[in-house]
Formats: sequence, C-alpha cells, structure tokens
Amino acid sequence: MLILGIETSCDETALALVSDGVHIHGNLVVSQVELHSKFRGIIPELASRKHVEIIIPALEQMLSETCTRLSDIDAVAVTHGPGLLGSLLIGVSTAAGIALGQRIPLIPVNHLQAHLYAASLGQHSFHGPAVGLVISGGHTDLVYMHNLLSYELLGATRDDAVGEAFDKVARILDLGYPGGPAIERIACSGNAVNVALPQPKFKEATLDFSLSGLKTAVLYRVKQLKKEGKSIPVPDIAASFQLEVARMLSKRLQQATKQTEATKILIGGGVAANRFIREFLLSSLGPAISIQIAAPHLCTDNAVMVAGLAYHRLNAGKGSTLSLEAVPNLSISSKEH
Ligand code: KG4
Ligand code: ZN
Repeated sequence: MLILGIETSCDETALALVSDGVHIHGNLVVSQVELHSKFRGIIPELASRKHVEIIIPALEQMLSETCTRLSDIDAVAVTHGPGLLGSLLIGVSTAAGIALGQRIPLIPVNHLQAHLYAASLGQHSFHGPAVGLVISGGHTDLVYMHNLLSYELLGATRDDAVGEAFDKVARILDLGYPGGPAIERIACSGNAVNVALPQPKFKEATLDFSLSGLKTAVLYRVKQLKKEGKSIPVPDIAASFQLEVARMLSKRLQQATKQTEATKILIGGGVAANRFIREFLLSSLGPAISIQIAAPHLCTDNAVMVAGLAYHRLNAGKGSTLSLEAVPNLSISSKEH
C-alpha cells in the first residue's frame, strides 16, 4: 500500500511516499531555515506563507522524480498537530484536497507519535511495550508506548524543550540559528571539564525535565566573563551544555525503564540527530535495554515518519476521516486500542 505523507507543522515543507509503512520511495524536505535564520527564530506567518508557495511544486517534483502518478497513491497521511496553526492548515487542506479528488482515505497523524515511529522504521512490526522519548524544538516528552496506537505520558519538560534550549544557548553564544547543529559542531573542539554547569534538581521524584536552569547558568557565565573582560570559551561551554543535557536524558530514561519494566527505548525528534547525545545514550543505558534511535536524517521533521505511522493506523482501522482539523496543541497521549 503506497501512502503519500505530508508534513508542514513547523518550518519544513515535507512530502514522502512510503509503501507498507517501511519502504521509502520518495522523501523530500524543503527547509525554510534560510528564511527564518535572519530573525534567529521561526516567524509563524512567514512559515505558513512559504508552505503555500512550496507545497504544490514540491509535490509535483516528488511525483516526477519517483515516476508516480496521483492515481498510484492508495491513501494520504498528514500531520494534524501539534504545531503552528497556519502551517498545519496548509498541509491539512492540501491532503484533504488530494484525498477528496482521488477518493482515497485521509489519515491524520500525530507529529510527536510520528517522531517515535521514525525510530522503529526498519522493523516490519513494532513489538511493544517501550519507553519513547521525543526531543524536538517544541517538545520533550517521555511516554510509555503500549503499541503504535497507545501512548501514556510519563514526563515532560516543565519549561524549555530540549531543542528550544539548544537554540537559546546558541543565541547566547552567538552561534546562529538553528542552534542544535551549531552547538554540536563547536562542542567537538571543546572540553566539558573546563566549564561546570548545574544539573536540574527537583524536590520530588519525577520523570519531568527542566532545561531553563541550565540555559540561565550559561547566560550568567557568559555575562560574568564579559564583565571581567575575559574571552568566552564557547567550545567548552557548548560541550558542557551538551553533556549535561545528555546526562539528564539518560537519567530519566533509566528511571522510566525501571519504573515501567520496559526493555525497549525509542528515541526521535530533531535533537536525537546529535551524535554526542546518541552515543552517550547508547553507551550509558547498557546492553540490557534495546535502544532504537531514529536515523539522523529522519530525526528532524520529515514526512516519511508520517506516511509510515499512517500505514499502521489505517491497518488498525484508525485511518480515514472526511473532516480533519488542525490541532496546534495536540498531546502525544492517546489510548486507542
Ligand atoms: O523535530 P524537529 O525537526 O522539529 C520540531 O518538531 O520541533 O526539531 C528541531 C529542533 C531544533 O531545536 C534544533 O536546534 C534541534 O532540533 N536540532 C538539534 C540538532 N539538529 C536539530 N539539536 C542538537 N543537535 C543537533 N544535531
Ligand atoms: Zn518535529
């Protein structure tokens, strides 16, 4: 079954053709990074206007590159939340138009669940339960996955999302936007030992995360050094920040697997593309737990993960709808059976 996936929840216009949930025939991601980088962050109004401009030419390009006609497609899947309302609406209305025109099923997909599906791609079937961790620009969610339809929230960030913290720290260090890849690059030449940063502390036992303390510690350190007229050890600060983030994620994953007795972990979302964090988690969580991290090019927003998860939803009878709404604050939690 060939599914067209459409993803426009933020600043990437992405389309994909995936058959049977796993075979990738086409994967096109048109990034708006250049447009937004001069503002050092995403401007929602500009993002949705750019989606309008790009989506049909991008669809035509992908169909032509893969020698596919619209009539070859069996279903259309689209991210309907969470994300920026204006951006989501472009994907949702394009998908609805194609589904109606071709008389094929229209499948709404939760963006955060799709990020986790990217980690299980390559396996023909998902065998739950598992602990899932989404680390993206807008979310840091830890879930217990019974299967691909049922997600129970175990913990989330109480302030900044991990990707958001990367972007803000990069701004403090004058590294440009998006911050994650910039911090990863410069941290390679730094040494975390030279700059100690604090781990967040909670009074109670929790699976929640907090990033703002770490971010503020970087801000104060930079301000202090500037006041003293000293140079800023940007690579060392970046390395230390990255190390503390990795430690926090590892700690929560250890707690979550212990608490739920799950022996499998799925990790997805833009920050999971970070090589240092990938290696830290793989080595710190030990061989007793199977850890699947999405392939680096499928960590950041893409439509392969949308078309892939949609196949399983359709198979489980959760697919088709005729009226589809964009839901900007859609939660990752869902208890479908
Ligand atoms: O999943 P994603 O593409 O979009 C959202 O759903 O938010 O994640 C984007 C986030 C950005 O904050 C970006 O800085 C971060 O992922 N990111 C990274 C890396 N690549 C992207 N963070 C750390 N290291 C990276 N290599
Ligand atoms: Zn995302």
